[in-house]
Amino acid sequence: MRYEVVLPAAGSGKRMGAGQNKLFLNLADKPILVHTLLVFEQDANCTGIWLAVKDEERSFIQTLIENYNITKVKGLPTGGEERQHSVHSCIKEMKAVEVVLVHDAARPFITIPKITELAEVAYEKGAAIAGVRAKDTMKIVQNGLIKETVDRESLWMVQTPQAFRYDLLVEAEDVAEKVGFLGTDEAMLVERLGHDIHIVECSYENVKMTTQEDLIFGEAILEKRNLRKSL
Ligand code: CTP
Ligand code: MG
Repeated sequence: MRYEVVLPAAGSGKRMGAGQNKLFLNLADKPILVHTLLVFEQDANCTGIWLAVKDEERSFIQTLIENYNITKVKGLPTGGEERQHSVHSCIKEMKAVEVVLVHDAARPFITIPKITELAEVAYEKGAAIAGVRAKDTMKIVQNGLIKETVDRESLWMVQTPQAFRYDLLVEAEDVAEKVGFLGTDEAMLVERLGHDIHIVECSYENVKMTTQEDLIFGEAILEKRNLRKSL
């Protein structure tokens, strides 16, 4: 299934504490952002990449795009205060397509087979998001005291990509904007419309580079993948 992808890249990376946009930090030999861009560049089903960026970082990102021969970028609109606004700025600029994926630029380890699965489920059912099962026992805590243990069977940690039929995501974003609703992912906006969202079991390797220790996981994942390739 063909799709276009929106990559929000206009964050500040505060939790990483690197004093710059964390997407510019290197993992092995390349910036995090370039690792992510290359996955979509190499996926034959991806027909366009939209990047939400900060105005002051646009020219540097354009240089990265040229240096790494990324050919599919269709636009780099200005991102917003919150991630949802950044995604919206891309959706507003793109022309209608059948399926759109939203993927954190900070998740460089997503694989093409999972992207394909998400795009196909979204095309058939409207909405599909990546997630993994919670590994630890989960408890609700209030004021430092355990209130309740939650049934782990029904708990998932959600990731991106989140894939949607374009019309459905546009409607969800328009409604959210109209009522001033702010969600932490796109699925929340679609949930509010009462539409079913399918979960596609993904990998714990699809980690978001958020804090310093994620860089260590990231280096280890790359090393393991390179080792596998050289066998
Ligand atoms: N993002 C964005 N616009 C924002 C905030 C975030 O495009 N206003 C992007 C980030 O660049 C990242 C993705 O959304 O690729 C996921 O967000 P997150 O991991 O929270 O990144 P940051 O917001 O940069 O980090 P932090 O929250 O630690 O400041
Ligand atoms: Mg953030």
